[in-house]
Amino acid sequence: MRLAWCILFLLGSTLPAQSEPTCNLLTINVDITALNIQLPSNISGLTLDILTALPKVQIQGTYQIAARYCEPEVKNSSRTNTLQLLVHGVTYTKDYWSGLGPPGQGYDGDKYSYVAYASKQGYPTLAIDRICNGNSSHPNGLTVIQLPANTEALYQVILQLQPSPTAGGRRFNKVIPVCHSEGATVCELLMQVHPDAPVATYVIHGFTNQFLVGGAASVAAVVFLPASIAAPTRFPGLDPTYLLTTSASGSQGVFYYGDYDKQVAAYDFANTNPVPAGELATSALSQLPAPLYKGSLLLLNGQNDQIFCAVLPTDPLIGGLGNCGTGATSTTARTQVLFPAAKFYYNQVANTGHDLDLHRTAAQTFKISHDYLASQGF
Ligand SMILES: *[C@@H]1O[C@H](CO)[C@@H](O)[C@H](O)[C@H]1NC(C)=O
Ligand SMILES: *[C@@H]1O[C@H](CO)[C@@H](O)[C@H](O)[C@H]1NC(C)=O
Ligand SMILES: *[C@@H]1O[C@H](CO)[C@@H](O)[C@H](O)[C@H]1NC(C)=O
Repeated sequence: MRLAWCILFLLGSTLPAQSEPTCNLLTINVDITALNIQLPSNISGLTLDILTALPKVQIQGTYQIAARYCEPEVKNSSRTNTLQLLVHGVTYTKDYWSGLGPPGQGYDGDKYSYVAYASKQGYPTLAIDRICNGNSSHPNGLTVIQLPANTEALYQVILQLQPSPTAGGRRFNKVIPVCHSEGATVCELLMQVHPDAPVATYVIHGFTNQFLVGGAASVAAVVFLPASIAAPTRFPGLDPTYLLTTSASGSQGVFYYGDYDKQVAAYDFANTNPVPAGELATSALSQLPAPLYKGSLLLLNGQNDQIFCAVLPTDPLIGGLGNCGTGATSTTARTQVLFPAAKFYYNQVANTGHDLDLHRTAAQTFKISHDYLASQGF
């Protein structure tokens, strides 16, 4: 409801011709009930079998999701109510989608901005800080914010974007989650548990069904420490269940490959964000199939994704060499097994690692994603 009001207000103003979207920050309240996992005290080495056999524990709470809504500078009346809902990965916030800064203030202008590209195609965007990230609520990062709770929070956001016709305000009758990495694991779990969620399609970046091959080495390579210890000035007193990457070379090795600007990787590492441990410990739930999801999705990966296409043996210092292969035998194509009933589309960007949007090839990533949307009639 709060969201509808904000957007209604925005539409009331007459906007001059401009070259950037018009963005504003907002807060969305979500009431969530979720079946989390009762994690053991030692969470390293949790396989999918161990994870799914652990007892479940119900958590319930009201949390705030921080978000940025951007009204596109280009008007296209058939896209006015088609919203791209942007869901970031670990170590990032909503700023991942606008070049690691607010729109217009990203690294190198709009070069790495998905939001700017979407805006030029006439799509409104809503980039959220996933619960426990950025400026959203920060409950316990181990017990509360696991993948199931994260998924329920996203589901509640989606429901709030579609107010009933009598509620007034803007109706986003087409909501398209665009999900990267840990955000993609959340979207995959959403397809498992809410296969009929009111979404038009999904765009998934940086994800495969081979997470368990490279996941552990990637976690080792970035060297996580409690954020309050690793960066006490930036995160004084933050609950120790929030972890920060502390290896610059490990982070670069895990997130980047091939055609990228080393300055971007350095800027990224210098501004890295805390990761709730419970997210890392439960990401493997995304490796279970979503047999009831019957909608469509695009899976788009950097061909050299070191986390999701790791080639064994992985290197504990720099993660793995990533190679998804090509064509119908690629790891990307084979990930269709997770979505047996869906209309599955896939593509890859060559010479590119896990963080597709932060490589010099970003424009290809943006174009492939939007060409897909247009081809589906959105
Ligand atoms: C935690 O579990 C891992 C994998 O099973 C094991 O190698 C490690 O020694 C354990 N750590 C502690 C403190 O028990
Ligand atoms: C969170 O809020 C602070 C203070 O308003 C702001 O400086 C910061 O940029 C915000 N972070 C994100 C990720 O929105
Ligand atoms: C406006 O959106 C429609 C529907 O997605 C699309 O077919 C059309 O090409 C778009 N028009 C422009 C000028 O981009």
